[in-house]
Amino acid sequence: MAQAVKATFDLSYKDQPDAQNLDHIPGEYGMPVLGKTYEILTDLHALVHEHYVRFGEVSRVNLGGQRGLLVMGPENLKQIYLDPERNFSTEMGYAERLGRFYKGGLLLRDFDEHRMQRRIFQSAFKNNAMKGYVDVINPLFKKYIAEWSPYEFTFFPHIKKSLLRSVAKVFIDLDDIGPEAEKLNDAFIATTDGLTAIVRKDIPLPWLKYHKGQQGKRFIHDYVKSLIEMKRKEPGSDILSFMCHEKTEEGDLFSYDDIVQHVSFLLFGAHDTTTSALTHMVYRLAVHQDWQEKLRDACVSMGKEFMDYDDINNMQILDDIFHETLRLHPSVELMTRRTVRECEIGGHRVPANTMIFIPPCYNHKMDKYWKDPEKFDPDRFSPERSEQKGHPFLYVPFGGGPHKCIGMHFAAMQAKLFMFQFVQKYRFRAPDNYYPKLQHVPMPKPADDLPLVLEKIQ
Ligand code: HEM
Repeated sequence: MAQAVKATFDLSYKDQPDAQNLDHIPGEYGMPVLGKTYEILTDLHALVHEHYVRFGEVSRVNLGGQRGLLVMGPENLKQIYLDPERNFSTEMGYAERLGRFYKGGLLLRDFDEHRMQRRIFQSAFKNNAMKGYVDVINPLFKKYIAEWSPYEFTFFPHIKKSLLRSVAKVFIDLDDIGPEAEKLNDAFIATTDGLTAIVRKDIPLPWLKYHKGQQGKRFIHDYVKSLIEMKRKEPGSDILSFMCHEKTEEGDLFSYDDIVQHVSFLLFGAHDTTTSALTHMVYRLAVHQDWQEKLRDACVSMGKEFMDYDDINNMQILDDIFHETLRLHPSVELMTRRTVRECEIGGHRVPANTMIFIPPCYNHKMDKYWKDPEKFDPDRFSPERSEQKGHPFLYVPFGGGPHKCIGMHFAAMQAKLFMFQFVQKYRFRAPDNYYPKLQHVPMPKPADDLPLVLEKIQ
């Protein structure tokens, strides 16, 4: 134990290369260099299932050019998420994928530093603040949904834009019309695109995705930085304002750099995840018309134009649909860690600096816990059935332990406020015999962006 505590303060693990020799653990790296990159791009769930059947819950693999272990199963996830011995670094787990754009974001900080930094969000997600966000978001969704044209409608780009506009307002109080909003929007999109660049060097060529991404990142950083002094003098009720007034354990305000890094990561962490969740939710309801009708009836029976904050947690059907969607389509399909020191997982000796890949889809479909796991069956989350309670680390779309998603209530709130209005405004269905190809990268969604037929109700 004494050794573990000492090692926590030894930061040399951040300078080490990934462990390469995992040959003593069952598994298969795949093709030279790229490993099983093709399989993740085409069907991650099939890859995970195949590894489980052939090698068990812990197996070696090469994903996206990084060697590591695919780790599944609620007991193994409990060990990694709770991490009482501080064996697993999220910073190093995400360094390759996110570190170049979001260094200093909450997910890119470890252990004591992470715990200390997480304080910066404590007021921003309290009940009173959340009530304020509900009042801001409701009329915005009303406006966006009214702008949608029922003809030749493709859901994904519309919801993506609407969520970005609403998040910009709630996070930094940016109005959605005007040149600043456009520039921020472009910078954000360039940054997200930059994450998937193959050439990862900031060579100043305007057509290179990575360079455009880095320019976008610098724009967002400068923009947020320029707001801090003003928010400190005249606080608003946006998330940035709360962060600008939060204090460290020592009673100091957080630094400009900390605030800038957290807000940039928050915009990223909040946006694509919720866009993916809502796209899949609407896809499932477009295909399962019975659930769409049941939800509409429940919404109409409330007799309100908007849901208020208290309604959000009191509408069981909406909650069940939200969770059943995330069970089948988790927005974060692979969580990552890297071991700080040698340890054991599932009976295997795991060397220091080993990448760990966690795919929630395995837990989410274990037939030991879920009845007919491939079926879309929101009732399984009802208080009577509560299948998700089969194990505390069975249902993990928001992760678990100290790094558990800080925005999960915010995400659920946004999704519910949107669905409440959308189902009352439109009946919607997918084209006949719609079986979309599901894409996994850069974010999970139907590859064709979800074409819908909308029929206006009011
Ligand atoms: C459906 C929507 C969302 C899903 C599925 C989701 C999923 C996740 C997951 C799985 C993690 C943990 C990753 C890990 O342990 O490796 C995480 C962390 C995080 N999420 Fe979310 N998220 C969502 C929405 C949001 C929103 C709306 C916000 C902000 C308002 C947000 C902010 C964050 C932050 C800051 C972290 C890092 C927490 C930490 O390291 O302590 N997320 N999210």
